[in-house]
Amino acid sequence: MLREVLDAFQPVSLNVYLDCTLGAGGHASELASAHPEMHTLLGIDLDPTAHSIAEPRIRAAAGGRPELATRLLRGNYRDLRPLLATVSNPPPHPNGILMDLGVSSMQASGSEARIDTAERGFSFMREGPLDMRMDPTAALSAEEVLNTWSEAELGRIIRDYGEEKLWKVVARRIVQTREVEPIRTTQQLVKAVGYTQLGGGKGKGKGGGKGVHPATRTFQALRIAVNDELRKLEQALPDAIAALAPGGRLAVISFHSLEDRLVKHAFLRAAGRPTPEDEHRTYGPDKFAFLEELDAAKVADLVTRKPVLPSDAETAANPRARSAKLRVLQKLG
Ligand SMILES: C[S@@+](CC[C@H](N)C(=O)[O-])C[C@H]1O[C@@H](n2cnc3c(N)ncnc32)[C@H](O)[C@@H]1O
Repeated sequence: MLREVLDAFQPVSLNVYLDCTLGAGGHASELASAHPEMHTLLGIDLDPTAHSIAEPRIRAAAGGRPELATRLLRGNYRDLRPLLATVSNPPPHPNGILMDLGVSSMQASGSEARIDTAERGFSFMREGPLDMRMDPTAALSAEEVLNTWSEAELGRIIRDYGEEKLWKVVARRIVQTREVEPIRTTQQLVKAVGYTQLGGGKGKGKGGGKGVHPATRTFQALRIAVNDELRKLEQALPDAIAALAPGGRLAVISFHSLEDRLVKHAFLRAAGRPTPEDEHRTYGPDKFAFLEELDAAKVADLVTRKPVLPSDAETAANPRARSAKLRVLQKLG
């Protein structure tokens, strides 16, 4: 979604840019070169490998512009407010903020970072330990979830985070398998839940959507649970909107419907167009705190009424992009 992100920020004077999910610095470096007015580039990522890869890329893109100050911050975008406070006093107000959710190429394919996916267990396609922590120092791993959480808890995450219709079957099979021996690797998990019997590889089989391997949903559920992704997003969205400078834009790329729903509702709320309460699914302990954080008064305009989808060329070149959705909001001037 590079072209689409460049277009989203094109009309903005991007003096201060904040990338909440720096990754390999692809978007950040392209934006730095497309916006010669940029004087401060702030990049957050909780994966330490991101910074070492992104930094030289950004430096190269901004070649010959010594005035561009770059601050790469290791941390969680959930802590956006305190992280910005470490940059300056008062904290900077970015003119553009990007959140590119999901797994980066370095976590998913290993191609850019030379970290093999197998080491982190993000992909069911490759054998590897079931880790899935985006922050390698975090305490909870997928292995712990699989081997210690109750069948009910497993069922809940596979249903709610994986949107797996056969969540009961999958949770049962995980528990039956771990009673014999602990589940420690990606292939053990794939085998344990018997994906071929769930319609895996057969396109539209029961429990399998067209073109989606059924294992995708259980792996997605585990990744979301291990990294507590939805709650973090829920906490970060109001703070990102509040941090924006007047006229600044927030662009969010999500990769599944649960994230997109949170983004959509936060944006509608900020644009003074509340949606019916029964449509809200929230993940924090306090059900509506997320929405209350967003002032009911209008503070922003929707730039995208419907999400922007990747081009056919992009999905052909990168199948992982097929579920991407971009939403953009502009703070009132
Ligand atoms: C899809 S990648 C970003 C790719 C980046 N836009 C690029 O062009 O190279 C997502 C990144 O967000 C990071 N990430 C995920 N959750 C995070 C969080 N809660 N806080 C900070 N970074 C996070 C991941 O470690 C990963 O590097």
